[in-house]
Amino acid sequence: MKYKILFYSLLTFASFFFLFTQFDCKTEPEKKEMNQEEMIKRGAYLVHFGGCNDCHTPKVYGPHGPMDDTTRILSGHPSNEVITAVPTEFLGPGKWAAVTNGHFTAWAGPWGISFTKNLTPDEPTGIGTWTEEIFIKAMRTGKQMGFGRDLLPPMPWFNVGALSDEDLKSVFAYLKSLKPIHNQVPEPIPPDSIYKIK
Ligand code: HEC
Repeated sequence: MKYKILFYSLLTFASFFFLFTQFDCKTEPEKKEMNQEEMIKRGAYLVHFGGCNDCHTPKVYGPHGPMDDTTRILSGHPSNEVITAVPTEFLGPGKWAAVTNGHFTAWAGPWGISFTKNLTPDEPTGIGTWTEEIFIKAMRTGKQMGFGRDLLPPMPWFNVGALSDEDLKSVFAYLKSLKPIHNQVPEPIPPDSIYKIK
């Protein structure tokens, strides 16, 4: 009798052992690819959290100060904006590191003056001709279109480039879904020339 109980207990144990080793209970559920609409939604979420509008969207002023101009979302430094003299006496080691204009789209510092780019899908002046690959490469290498000159401060490309491929593709899908705005952003001004602006 004793042996019979022992035999059946061992048999039960062996069956469970067999079952558990045959079926991998830890299999990950298959990851579903996002469709275009879901990518745009995630991209919008990342762009808002990532503060891209802070620098790439011109501002209008209300009772609480600067707000994004919703008619010019992410269109970069306005081409018709007059570039006024930079208060260079405030800049330098031990002083202020940078000054910005009222739109937060022009930034003067030791690198000269950089102007935030047009991120809307306008073909001649924005990112209309860019591919996902160009965008990812630009954000990962910190070079214009991934192969040109170094991107200037204060563009935080190293933070954006730390996103996963999937997130960067979503940011790009959102940018491509924006209303194209024709706005030719000026080229940066080199450091020695900022003293000459009157
Ligand atoms: C603190 C200001 C600032 C913030 C925040 C910022 N940018 Fe920029 N960005 C710039 C400036 C300035 C440039 C132009 C740099 C240059 O001319 O080299 C730029 C350039 C770029 C370019 C290169 C475009 C081109 O035509 O070469 C891309 C793409 C870009 N930014 C995307 C983004 C995205 C996406 C975000 C948000 C996740 C973002 N930026 C947030 C300031 C900023």
